[in-house]
Amino acid sequence: MKLLTVIGARPQFIKAAVVSHELLKHSNFEEHIVHTGQHYDYNMSKAFFEELSIPLPKENLGISGGSHAQMTGSMMVALEDSMQRIQPDAVLLYGDTNSTLAAALAAAKLHIPITHVEAGARTGSKTNPEEINRICTDHVSSLLLACTEESLANLGNEGLSAQSFFIGDPMLDAFFEYSMYAVTPELVDVSTKHKIEVPGRFYYLTCHREENTDFSTLQSILDAMDMLDYPVIYPVHPRNRANVMAILGDKDYSNIVFADPLGYLESLYLVNNAEQVITDSGGLQREAFFAGVKCTTLLDFEVWPETMVEGRNILAQPGQESILHAMQIPQHIDPAYNPFGDGHAASKIVARIESAFNSY
Ligand code: UD1
Repeated sequence: MKLLTVIGARPQFIKAAVVSHELLKHSNFEEHIVHTGQHYDYNMSKAFFEELSIPLPKENLGISGGSHAQMTGSMMVALEDSMQRIQPDAVLLYGDTNSTLAAALAAAKLHIPITHVEAGARTGSKTNPEEINRICTDHVSSLLLACTEESLANLGNEGLSAQSFFIGDPMLDAFFEYSMYAVTPELVDVSTKHKIEVPGRFYYLTCHREENTDFSTLQSILDAMDMLDYPVIYPVHPRNRANVMAILGDKDYSNIVFADPLGYLESLYLVNNAEQVITDSGGLQREAFFAGVKCTTLLDFEVWPETMVEGRNILAQPGQESILHAMQIPQHIDPAYNPFGDGHAASKIVARIESAFNSY
């Protein structure tokens, strides 16, 4: 069976890595990877292919930047062409990026069946661009694979039960598989360079969502980080580069270590060893939960409500008072509570694809 995987952004590389490794064990699958080019800096893209040994993409479409419509539209046109040349039996998509949506629309119009991994996640906020991508992708897909029972229930509420299954979160597979390699502080250039005491005596901040990238919102977040009792490691997403440079022109943030985007192993090391995580990333919220590290989420909607239990992940507004309040709420961990499956999602994804499309 010829499977076309379309990926383009950092979190998709991590999920695709574990599934691609599983697909290689099955001789009846021939996987073709197409990279849209949405993320293109070395440390946002190629570094992940090298570090996670992801099979090299057959094509890189080189499409990034611009408005949502420009990016999504250009990707659709190029992906339609790739799909017509590759002639896949099915398409495999991950998450909620513009690359996911573009591939879903192109494949659906060519009547190619789509498998969507991370299906059913809902924030209830249609001003969140990723929510539009999630809803549209789910409604044109043939096989919907949910990371949690709550996501599965969301799909049921939208009339999609027949093609939906709970398989767990492939990010948990990756977390288990790669945490064992992410154990030495020397791995983390950024902390050794800046003499940050690890483990435990630092905070880990990531912030890149459209909701938090305007100048004043980002400045309020950095002001709050500068007040904390331990240093804050902040790898700056390219989306925020220009604003961070402008903010640093006005003020010296001595408690924040600004860094380039990190590799996956460095990031895993920081999640596993941070005092707390502060983020707006859906992936990092789940990784903090897997690691048992308290998380504060800089959004006004829940992406993964399963993590928002017993003080483990608290929403905060991008101001000092709200962030400090959230960070002070203690967390309690119930080791028996694991809504994200057993860390074997990749093999279940492959088995589901095999049985759904077994006529190919
Ligand atoms: C995208 C996804 C988001 C995901 C995130 C992970 C959408 C709508 N959003 O957001 O769901 O959580 O990726 O990081 O698809 N840029 C660079 N270098 C790069 C990549 C991007 O300079 O390697 C620039 C782009 O040119 C653009 C900006 O950063 O100007 C934003 O990038 P974009 O791909 O639009 O969205 P992300 O914020 O990365």
